[in-house]
Amino acid sequence: MKKLKNDTLLKALLKQPTEYTPVWMMRQAGRYLPEYNKTRARAGDFLSLCKNPDFATEVTMQPLERYSLDAAILFSDILTIPDAMGLGLYFAEGEGPKFERPLREEKEIRSLTAPDPAVHLKYVMDAVSQIRKTLDNQVPLIGFSGSPFTLACYMIEGRGGTDFRQIKTMLYKRPDLLHHILNITAQSVTDYLNAQIESGAQAVMIFDTWGGVLSHSAYQEFSLQYMKQILAGLKREHDGERIPSVVFTKGGGLWLESIAESGCDALGLDWTINIAEARNRVGHKVALQGNLDPAVLFSTPEIIATEVEKILKDYGSGSGHVFNLGHGISQFTPPESALALIDAVHSLSKKYHS
Ligand code: CP3
Repeated sequence: MKKLKNDTLLKALLKQPTEYTPVWMMRQAGRYLPEYNKTRARAGDFLSLCKNPDFATEVTMQPLERYSLDAAILFSDILTIPDAMGLGLYFAEGEGPKFERPLREEKEIRSLTAPDPAVHLKYVMDAVSQIRKTLDNQVPLIGFSGSPFTLACYMIEGRGGTDFRQIKTMLYKRPDLLHHILNITAQSVTDYLNAQIESGAQAVMIFDTWGGVLSHSAYQEFSLQYMKQILAGLKREHDGERIPSVVFTKGGGLWLESIAESGCDALGLDWTINIAEARNRVGHKVALQGNLDPAVLFSTPEIIATEVEKILKDYGSGSGHVFNLGHGISQFTPPESALALIDAVHSLSKKYHS
């Protein structure tokens, strides 16, 4: 295996010394980039973009051609798993994801099965291998999946942007049914992430976008428990290299200690928590990824640099910090703002590493 030219991200995720703080952005390939919109128009729609490895490779590379990012992230979506389970994913223009057959009836729930990633999600594995080839070891490739709870939100609600009434009704009235869905989904996510690792993903991230809507005890029982199950089943090494894992629960600031015990190498932070406090609470155990408010990118390069410096200073000296946004970059972000962010992180962070 050829050596990575820039392995700063992997080192930071494992809390090994680096020369500067590495940076990447959630949703770094997306609609804020005019070249993405062009490729998407050629593909026809978002799902066709995901399902065609040539297009997925092309858009994965786009932000790396513009910016000196320290990582690539597979271009895909968390909803590929429920789609492969047969729920019928589609994106209505301007409305976000929807499912033709959301899970409601016990009979459907009982007949749910884990998809075989080598068969039903082969297009994702093909994209991972093709992206690795195209990257030619410049920077590492991050693979990802949704958390079982977050996937279940979409599978049960049938769409995004809801008040979580369906899934929460099931959680309290029929917890056995929700646990059944989460068990099968956790198995699917484990198989899916391991297949991405075998195809060439060099780090993996679990997006628990909706874990933060749960009560304290429900979070442990219905979200964290299943992420622990996945982490316990993940391949930790591939081709002689450690594969670091990141868990990101949006709105999970209250539960950092228990997330840090889950078996992950790094914890993703949204922008609501102070990273100095997070480091005090869990930094001896895990690396931290985050946590600039994506809305800062609507300001000026000077203000972006000031806000970046605040986070770098709050984290303080030493390794174990991967700079990122606290959530995905907005489609309305000017591309120059991303440049200002990445340059600021690279130039301002050197003094914290010696
Ligand atoms: O970060 C990256 O660049 C990799 C690609 C990526 C996408 N989605 C591409 C995408 C990743 C990691 C995701 C994860 C994802 N998908 C999450 C978890 C992270 C988060 O944002 O909380 C969730 C909840 C989804 C489900 C999903 N997919 C939603 C809710 C939407 C609509 C959002 C919107 O802004 O309209 C999508 C569509 C989607 N996934 C887009 C992209 C670039 C926009 C699609 C388009 O081109 O129209």
